[in-house]
Amino acid sequence: MGATSVLGIESSCDETSAAVVTNGTEVLSNVVSSQAAQHSRFGGVVPELASRKHLEALMPVVDEALAAAGASFDDIDAVAVTQGPGLLGCLMIGLASAKALCVALDKPLIAVNHLHAHAAAATIEREMELPFIALVVSGGHTSLYLINSLTDLEVLGTTRDDAAGEAFDQGAKALGLGYPGGAEVDRLAKQGNSEKIRFPRPLADTDTLWFSFSGLKTALVYRIEKQGAPTGEELNDVCAGYQEAIVDSLIDKSLLAVRKTGVKNFAITGGVACNSRLREKAADVFGREGVHLTIPSPSLCTDNAAMIASLGFHLFKEGRTAPPDIAAFSTSRVKIKRGEARF
Ligand code: KG4
Ligand code: ZN
Repeated sequence: MGATSVLGIESSCDETSAAVVTNGTEVLSNVVSSQAAQHSRFGGVVPELASRKHLEALMPVVDEALAAAGASFDDIDAVAVTQGPGLLGCLMIGLASAKALCVALDKPLIAVNHLHAHAAAATIEREMELPFIALVVSGGHTSLYLINSLTDLEVLGTTRDDAAGEAFDQGAKALGLGYPGGAEVDRLAKQGNSEKIRFPRPLADTDTLWFSFSGLKTALVYRIEKQGAPTGEELNDVCAGYQEAIVDSLIDKSLLAVRKTGVKNFAITGGVACNSRLREKAADVFGREGVHLTIPSPSLCTDNAAMIASLGFHLFKEGRTAPPDIAAFSTSRVKIKRGEARF
């Protein structure tokens, strides 16, 4: 089989992205148009505004991705698009555009699960031995997956309430650091002492693979209510302590997943994988545990269409094309009963 090029389209939240990827790993282009600046004054993503911005940006971004790849529609073998989970109105823009392109160009359509694509993104830059565990940690999701084959994943654990990125963003908002504030917390934490102020680590001593972050955010809000908003050195210490609690929770459950499954290949992906303390501590802890750790480049961790095109390629190879009447879905289809043990 010759080279297979997939056009990927991603529009699940506030990034409009298109990419051309050949054979699942050769990223010819990966164009991302972020709406973050438009949403920041509202302190979060406004769904209706996001949909409208996708509508404006999508086709120009697709054209840009083709141009950057030096390709035309004739060079594309299939169109892969995010079907869900995400904001429904946003997903519908991407899905409708991908369907229209496929009908007009007579190309196959591939429907991709956004979270599955985040997990599989670990294989774009380097080969990963199967099976591997992926911690997908972003603004909307915090889950541990067992990947037995690239086109099949099993949920090991997920969050019972907030996502880790949400904890970063809401904590940053409470501290007056703007939105999305994860990167700013990361920056200030570098100048602080993480041991001065201790925040809770919910579910830390349990044998489950559940995450929980809502108590952490509440602890921060109570602290601000009682002691006022921190500034200067104290703000740095609060950021460091708060970040450390999130990072510890993520690493503890990841380590538990490794020990429960015996799987020693591990990937961390999603926007929060950009966090410098998470990268540093994961490398240290996993290194001592003899776990082979992969964290993709930041551009493949945050929302991007290259990961959609990459997983789209693997699905396409297996003949898993989508019918033209597929609908977007907003929440993850994988359901886990609360408290259910998997092992
Ligand atoms: O994967 P992503 O781009 O979008 C979603 O699917 O949510 O992740 C965005 C999230 C935001 O919550 C943002 O604050 C967080 O990733 N993030 C970070 C850092 N960079 C991005 N969180 C902590 N430290 C960072 N350096
Ligand atoms: Zn995402």
